[in-house]
Amino acid sequence: MNRPTSHDPHASLVARYVDPEDADGVDDDAVRRRVGLVESVRAGRRWWDANADEYQVEHGDFLGDARFTWCPEGLDEDRVKLLGPVEGRTVLEVGAGAAQCSRRLLARGAFPIALDLSLRQLQHSRRLDAEHGTRVPVVQADAGRLPFADASFDLAFSAYGALPFSPDGAGIMREVFRVLRPGGRWVFSITHPIRWAFPDEPGPEGLTAVASYFDTTPYVEQDHTGRATYVEQHRTLGERVREVVGAGFRLLDIVEPEWPDDLESTWGGWSPLRGRLLPGTAIFVCAKD
Ligand SMILES: C[S@@+](CC[C@H](N)C(=O)[O-])C[C@H]1O[C@@H](n2cnc3c(N)ncnc32)[C@H](O)[C@@H]1O
Repeated sequence: MNRPTSHDPHASLVARYVDPEDADGVDDDAVRRRVGLVESVRAGRRWWDANADEYQVEHGDFLGDARFTWCPEGLDEDRVKLLGPVEGRTVLEVGAGAAQCSRRLLARGAFPIALDLSLRQLQHSRRLDAEHGTRVPVVQADAGRLPFADASFDLAFSAYGALPFSPDGAGIMREVFRVLRPGGRWVFSITHPIRWAFPDEPGPEGLTAVASYFDTTPYVEQDHTGRATYVEQHRTLGERVREVVGAGFRLLDIVEPEWPDDLESTWGGWSPLRGRLLPGTAIFVCAKD
């Protein structure tokens, strides 16, 4: 397995979503360096296409086929209603994966469209639709260039989609702002920024800060030619707030879900041990006035 523990002491810090074996079976180097937008998007598309099957096998049960959970802490949108009323609303899911959340919104009377960079992830959405007799419209596109007209949606959301992987979070925020109608909401969950300072390990080794929270140099896996094959980004809390506000949104809340007493499951570095001591997720609730 491709554990990012090679020559860079920071390499095991990031919040990996799965522990993938490379598509070609050869381990890549893990480094910290800047990555351009084109290289990053290309790496993301290839990585998620190559790892979508394993991701869905590993996390499908937790996610549920038509459940809307914001995070490994299991915070359920049906309970918290961060999006507000959804019935009759047009909703864009950004970085949807297999669109489990959108499928739940469909059942609640919304009109969702699920967008993702990875064709293979969207094929899993189609598979779930076939199994459940549902039909979530899907679009393959980069979140930084949304293929929709201005003011197309009432609501937009993302559960760990796109933002953790994009070097241009500010650009994604601007695009979402553009396609939302006035009065709309944009709600997104990401790894809580504080986690960047800690090793991404579920056990006690994940409880000691070993790197600077302020160092936003991306985590990159690259092949023998130096080409990025996986990229993960970090922003400090203040930088994320500035991305939100800079796009024109009003920030209503940052929700930091606590780890539930009865939740014993582990998702990568998110575990009961760490979850009871450190925040693992931040959910930004934003409004377009
Ligand atoms: C951790 S998954 C989250 C998906 C879903 N919410 C879930 O919990 O399974 C991240 C998703 O973001 C997508 N993604 C990554 N970069 C993206 C981009 N630039 N534009 C759109 N989607 C992107 C990936 O293909 C992947 O399906």
